[in-house]
Amino acid sequence: MSTLHVLDHPLITHKLTIMRKKDTGSKDFRELLDEIALLMGYEVTRDLPLEEVEIETPICRTKAKMLAGKKLGIVPILRAGLGMVDALRTLVPAARVGHIGLYRDPETLEPVEYYCKLPNDAQERLIIVCDPMLATGGSACAAIDFLKQRGCTNIRLMCLLGAPVGIERVQKEHPDVDIYIAAVDDHLNDHGYIVPGLGDAGDRIFGTK
Ligand code: PRP
Ligand code: URA
Repeated sequence: MSTLHVLDHPLITHKLTIMRKKDTGSKDFRELLDEIALLMGYEVTRDLPLEEVEIETPICRTKAKMLAGKKLGIVPILRAGLGMVDALRTLVPAARVGHIGLYRDPETLEPVEYYCKLPNDAQERLIIVCDPMLATGGSACAAIDFLKQRGCTNIRLMCLLGAPVGIERVQKEHPDVDIYIAAVDDHLNDHGYIVPGLGDAGDRIFGTK
């Protein structure tokens, strides 16, 4: 079974509460998501491997540690996942970014794929799939399936908000994928929206409603 990491640091929780408010506008919503993704990124990358290197400080030669091997692959699920990419790239500038385009069919709530472009060495990288919302879990599971079909074996999922049913689905279908999330809400409504949630993340990021 994968591990569910609930990153309920007070700064994250405070910022998330502002995002939830319906009167928070698109600019503030985007900025808060970026700030939270930066804070979450610190935990998501906590166990990245290090290697010893020899460097010269202004004082002497010494051994020190740096990140080892190929850096991250960041894979946002379009559209809303885009709002978490810049923060992760700030933390790991050498990361490569892939994109998976999925939208939820409003009737069936099933994910429909419309785009995929991954780094050509994605299989050799730790992949962080990011999407603010984990509702039924359909989109996250489809994206992870997609990555596994292309040979990726080291995958983490980073979300802002989740519903218990979506978390359980990802853990059941992908027991090897750890989930990093800022909060777990109560349930889904009849339209598949997280309750209490924050509404439609993509629309709030991009101002499309
Ligand atoms: C939202 C969200 C997730 C998905 C979550 O995207 O960003 O990708 O729904 O729902 P699920 O867990 O039930 O699959 P949406 O389909 O609204 O597309 P958008 O990001 O383009 O707005
Ligand atoms: N997608 C969203 O953007 N919000 C939800 O509450 C559920 C899915």
